[in-house]
Amino acid sequence: MSGDIRTVGIVGSGIMGSGLAEVAARAGYDVIVASRSQASADGVLRTLDAGFTKAIDRGRATADERDSVMGRITATEGFGSFGECDLVIESVIEQLGVKLQLFAELDRATKPSAILATNTSTLPVIDLALFTSRPDQVCGIHFFNPATLMKLVEVVRPVSACAETIETAMAFVASCDKDAVEVLDHAGFVVNALLFPYLNSAVRMFERGTASIESIDTAMKGGCNFPMGPFALLDLVGLDTSVAILETIHASFGNPADAPAQTLLDKVAAGNLGRKTKQGFYSY
Ligand SMILES: NC(=O)c1ccc[n+]([C@@H]2O[C@H](COP(=O)([O-])OP(=O)(O)OC[C@H]3O[C@@H](n4cnc5c(N)ncnc54)[C@H](O)[C@@H]3O)[C@@H](O)[C@H]2O)c1
Repeated sequence: MSGDIRTVGIVGSGIMGSGLAEVAARAGYDVIVASRSQASADGVLRTLDAGFTKAIDRGRATADERDSVMGRITATEGFGSFGECDLVIESVIEQLGVKLQLFAELDRATKPSAILATNTSTLPVIDLALFTSRPDQVCGIHFFNPATLMKLVEVVRPVSACAETIETAMAFVASCDKDAVEVLDHAGFVVNALLFPYLNSAVRMFERGTASIESIDTAMKGGCNFPMGPFALLDLVGLDTSVAILETIHASFGNPADAPAQTLLDKVAAGNLGRKTKQGFYSY
C-alpha cells in the first residue's frame, strides 16, 4: 500500500468502476464504491463475486482470497462515507458536464487532504481540477480495460497539480502492481491519442468495403501480432465511450479524420454499445 493512502473511494459501477474496486482491494486498501443507487453499487459486489466464483472453479483463486478482497469493499449510494477516503477515483460516464458536477460534490464530501482523481479516457483533467477548491490535489489515474489484467496506468498531470499529488498517485499505482507512466493533460494522453485514430480508421475501412469486420480483425491480429482486432477492441471498450473519446480528440486536435465514423454513431444511436449490451460489431 502507499503510505499516505488507506481508504480509496471509487465512483461508478460500470466496467471500469468494478475493475478499479477489485484492483484497489487486492492491493490491500479499504474500498468504498459509490454509485447513484444502492442497487447499482451492490451490482459491483455481485459482479466481483461472480468473477471470483468462476476463478475458484477454474483453480485460479481461492475462497480465502475472495473473502479477503470482498471483505475490504463496501458499496454505498452517494458520498455519505467519503469523509474517510484519502484518494477518490471517479469512473463514471465519459461526459464532461457529469464529471464536473461530480467533482464539485466530491470536493464537498471529502476531507481537505484527499486526492481527487479521474479515470477519464480523454477529457481535460484541468477542467475538473478547477471545479474544486483543491486544484493542486486533482490528477488523472487512467487505468486500462480490464483493469485487473492490464499493467499500464497513465498518471495525468494537469498544470494545476502539485508534485506531491503526482508522487502519491505514482506510488499508489505501483502499490497496485501496475506500471505507471506520467503524461501531460493532452486529449487522449499517450495511448488513446495513438490508438483511437487507428480504431476509427478501421471502421472507415469497413465502410469503404475494403474487407469484412472479421477479416480486418483477423488481418490485424495475424499481421501485427495484436491480441485482438480493432472491432473486438471497440466492443470491449464500449462504443459510446469510443465515440466520446473520438469527439474529444477531434475537438482538441482538429483533424477531420478523427470525427467518429458514421457506423459508430449509428450503433450508439441504436443502443448497441458492445460487450456491455451484448451487441456491438459482434454479438455476445
Ligand atoms: N471502457 C474502457 O475501456 C475504459 C478504459 C479506461 C477508462 N475508461 C473511462 O472510465 C469511465 C467509465 O467508463 P466505463 O467503461 O466503466 O463505462 P460504463 O458505461 O460501463 O459505466 C458508466 C458508469 O457511469 C454511471 N453514470 C452514467 N450516467 C451517469 C450520471 N449522469 N451521473 C453519474 N453516473 C453516471 C453509470 O451508472 C455507470 O456506473 C469513463 O470516463 C471512461 O472513459 C473506460
